[in-house]
Amino acid sequence: MSAIQRVPTGISKLDSLIEGGFPTDSMVLVVGHPGAGKSTLAGQFVYNGAVKSGVKSVYACFAETKDTFFSNMLRFEWDFERLERERRVAVLDLAVTREAGIQTNLNSIMETMSNFKASILVIDSFTAISMALKEYIDSRVMIHLFYRFLKKSNCMSLFIIDQPWGSTAIGERVAEFMADGILHLETYFDEEGTLRRTFNIIKMRGTNHSKSTYEYEISKKGFTLLDLTKMRKP
Ligand SMILES: Nc1ncnc2c1ncn2[C@@H]1O[C@H](COP(=O)(O)OP(=O)(O)OP(=O)(O)O)[C@@H](O)[C@H]1O
Ligand SMILES: [Mg+2]
Repeated sequence: MSAIQRVPTGISKLDSLIEGGFPTDSMVLVVGHPGAGKSTLAGQFVYNGAVKSGVKSVYACFAETKDTFFSNMLRFEWDFERLERERRVAVLDLAVTREAGIQTNLNSIMETMSNFKASILVIDSFTAISMALKEYIDSRVMIHLFYRFLKKSNCMSLFIIDQPWGSTAIGERVAEFMADGILHLETYFDEEGTLRRTFNIIKMRGTNHSKSTYEYEISKKGFTLLDLTKMRKP
């Protein structure tokens, strides 16, 4: 039995909450409300991995277009266009249209992962793909396929899950059980009417992770976890 290897998250403070980083072959869900900062967190992870550790990632855009993703990331001074030109990251622009298209998209993700020898995959968002599938079972099969492929190729992945306002469900009733880890990003308005953001680690297999609630902010530096507060949601 060997010790669990970990990949740094690129988010300061987060590594210390999960024993140094994500387990190298883990599938982690990033679940959050609209505009919670899911893509920012994922982009920061991929960018820092490429720049600081030379880790290659594939970022599959389903929700926003590649161009929008590039310009949003550039606001944080993360130049994904350059990283892609230098073949340090591959960003896939995948439109979800019909089920037939889904299979092609999945093949192209897996092919790119193999050809590019990437060790990280981001799916932004898994919700966007599963919404294109008519049958619930397809979404289950799809997550199984991804899970097996990623474990076999020893790749780490972030699957973004969109959580509608007011919903307590966090996945597809399958993804959340299958995933090795779940990061939960919530937004709400406080009594003064100001948008606040809270972060929890719901699970991280093989890891003695923090059980606390943290506030976080998104600023020009990207995603920043703040010190633990006594704050409780109303
Ligand atoms: N440069 C910036 N400076 C400060 N805050 C920003 C900046 N860019 C984005 N934000 C904040 O981050 C939010 C969007 O972050 P992001 O796109 O990562 O969220 P998301 O959870 O992926 O959203 P969606 O559900 O729409 O995909 C914005 O609504 C805004 O509040
Ligand atoms: Mg997003």
